[in-house]
Amino acid sequence: MTQQHRGDVVDLLLDQHRVIRELCEEVTTAAVADREQPFRSLLRLLAVHEAVEEELVHPYVKRRVEGAKAAVTDRVEEEREVNKMLVALDALGPTNPGFQELFTRFRTALLAHADKEESSEFAGLRTATRPGERTAMAAAMRLASALAPTHPHPGNESASRALLVGTPMAMMDRARDLLREAMPGRTRGEARDAPTS
Ligand SMILES: [Fe+2]
Ligand SMILES: [Fe+2]
Repeated sequence: MTQQHRGDVVDLLLDQHRVIRELCEEVTTAAVADREQPFRSLLRLLAVHEAVEEELVHPYVKRRVEGAKAAVTDRVEEEREVNKMLVALDALGPTNPGFQELFTRFRTALLAHADKEESSEFAGLRTATRPGERTAMAAAMRLASALAPTHPHPGNESASRALLVGTPMAMMDRARDLLREAMPGRTRGEARDAPTS
């Protein structure tokens, strides 16, 4: 995460997409025995990333960007499909012979989903929100993202593992709870009260 991205949730989201693409590539190209570490990093990051989109991005875009409801519904459905594959991949484990084939399908679906978010939803979020709102969302997002260091420093690995572990769904629940605590009344509630045009 770079310093200039601290103030805007859209920049943070784009930055996470970049790291997600890199981790997908790492998992794909790693030897079977070396897949575990990048796969666990990807699981943690996706748990946080999708929780942020679910709690902050989708509700805001739905309420604020005119004509965006159908597209948001499609993105949420894609996330559901991707999450199902993620749960299946986690259950298989990265050394299972069936992992590679499922990961290829998962990666294709995930990256197509990310491309669509970037071309419509994120652009809409940037134009439909005030800078202060995006800064508040960025602060909450940074707090949740601390649970998912993608490349933990040596010596800190056990600490970061203690922060976000378990099944993908359990990790996502944890990230969601943290976001709700970080932005009380500013997630779904504020979006609901905000003018729609
Ligand atoms: Fe997403
Ligand atoms: Fe995304």
